[in-house]
Amino acid sequence: MKTLAILSRKGGAGKTTLALHLAVQAVAGGRRVALVDADPQRSAADWWRTREADAPELVEVDPGALAAVVRAAEEAGFDLVVIDTRPSAEADAQEAAQVADLALVVVRPSILDLRAVSATVSTVQAAGTPGLMVINQAPPARGIAEGAITREAVGALQGFGLPVATTIIHARAAFASALIDGRAVLELEPAGKAAGEIAALWRELEARL
Ligand SMILES: Nc1ncnc2c1ncn2[C@@H]1O[C@H](COP(=O)(O)OP(=O)(O)OP(=O)(O)O)[C@@H](O)[C@H]1O
Ligand SMILES: [Mg+2]
Repeated sequence: MKTLAILSRKGGAGKTTLALHLAVQAVAGGRRVALVDADPQRSAADWWRTREADAPELVEVDPGALAAVVRAAEEAGFDLVVIDTRPSAEADAQEAAQVADLALVVVRPSILDLRAVSATVSTVQAAGTPGLMVINQAPPARGIAEGAITREAVGALQGFGLPVATTIIHARAAFASALIDGRAVLELEPAGKAAGEIAALWRELEARL
């Protein structure tokens, strides 16, 4: 079993959106997946409750209990655990990074997010866990080239000591609309660009897990 923790110190970067999308993507790939909601706001759980499909399975956990939940998931025969965390809670981020095999750090291409990312990177490095940074909510590219904001963000992230995902997740309406009734973009627009981005990001993560 593998454990993926989704982290970012900044609120609203897209942790929950990516956690549930990656969980659904892994389910589509035939894995048995537990989506672990470690955020007291319970956004992932709220999404899951409006969902028709049973997979991924949902586990709500309180701070301090993550290690036990990951062990239980392993014993129960899960293939993958995806942990959604809350922003700005250093202890939670440490705990999630420690139990994870891989930490995905979500960053918007904005100067405020970029300035805050070093704290999350330090947490991942202190845990000794491999990490990957991903840009989310990038302005949709015109043609094949990314816009200047995104290119500059990629450049800035490259100095932080964690690899940067090749896949960039753009701001797309499908990401918000799919969540309304408990779905993921793969289930809303399987051939859409958003679904393609999630599939590509999952391939990168799978290769590192
Ligand atoms: N790639 C995207 N395209 C469009 N909307 C997005 C995208 N990613 C996230 N959002 C929207 O941005 C908002 C914040 O996303 P989300 O709740 O996933 O962030 P978060 O990091 O989990 O926030 P919090 O820190 O509060 O837990 C939501 O309204 C979500 O629908
Ligand atoms: Mg969230």
